[in-house]
Amino acid sequence: MLDKIGVIGGGMIGGVLCQEIPRRRLARTLALVDIMPPDLAKGKCLDIAEGSPVMGFDVNFDAGKGYEVLAGAQLVINTAGVPRKPKPDGTLPTREELLQTNLKITDAVAQGIADNCPDAIVISIANPLDAIVYRLSRQLGRDRATLFGMAGVLDSARYRYFVAEAAGVSVENVEALVLGGHGDTMVPIRSACRIAGLSVELFLDDDVLAGIEARTRKAGGEVVKLIGTGSAFVSPAWSALEMAEAIIFDKKKVMAVSARLEGEYGVEGLYVGVPAILGRSGVEKVLEVPLTDGERALFDRSVEAVRSTAAEVDRLTS
Ligand code: APR
Repeated sequence: MLDKIGVIGGGMIGGVLCQEIPRRRLARTLALVDIMPPDLAKGKCLDIAEGSPVMGFDVNFDAGKGYEVLAGAQLVINTAGVPRKPKPDGTLPTREELLQTNLKITDAVAQGIADNCPDAIVISIANPLDAIVYRLSRQLGRDRATLFGMAGVLDSARYRYFVAEAAGVSVENVEALVLGGHGDTMVPIRSACRIAGLSVELFLDDDVLAGIEARTRKAGGEVVKLIGTGSAFVSPAWSALEMAEAIIFDKKKVMAVSARLEGEYGVEGLYVGVPAILGRSGVEKVLEVPLTDGERALFDRSVEAVRSTAAEVDRLTS
């Protein structure tokens, strides 16, 4: 158990995090910051505190609209952002306008972390993931161990679920890795997908696997279309918590992490989804795994997409 975990943004994902962190007894104090008036963060935490006797957990809350509630946090999970919704004049923001807005929010998040918990390990979930985690790193200037993004755990979980469903086996039997950027170019690594240690290709035909991989790449959008008013929020929160637990319990667990590459895979300075070992210090090691020629070509293409996103972020913030 940590002394204090901070959550930034108390919307749909932040709300699940604030229920799960006390329920899993991950921290003695949970901080939630959200700028939404009158005081969304305080309200959500009061609701959970009032339910805590029923669930049977003790937790202290520091909640509010100001980042000072994060003071002393050892781990921070960032979910702050705005979704694509009509502007006051009724028109939809362009992709670039939305990115600009979310980068401004990200700069406020970075300042809040720098001022209040400069040593906290930071897991960022906010979208567009590749752009936001890159900007946070630019602003915070951290080593790669203590700042990284959650995308691959969720993308891999989606792949695992689809494989388990198609093969008629438990999700617990399926291991998978989805690497690269968090977007249409993400790369499900078929050669690393195993059912109870056996190649997935012993269980499913090529066309079924190709269908699953295509569905994985679009899985976020599939949920958005069905929900209608928002995006996936339970599975992203649970995925970030899997990373948090690996850190809190020093598990040395291997999972797909959006980590800054420092020469691995021939890439320097970009945040890309790669397998990494997570433990008490955060990202303790980035693993370079063998890929088939086809997977490597797709990975390189995904890296180029991440590179152009990073260039766009630099252009919009210069
Ligand atoms: N500081 C703190 N919180 C902020 C800030 C800010 N500067 N700006 C916005 N927020 C808050 C909003 O008030 C809102 O409550 O962030 C919260 C975001 O919550 P939701 O809109 O419900 O979004 P959610 O579904 O939780 O997703 C959060 O993660 O997966 C991504 O695409 C998703 O970028 C989005 C993020």
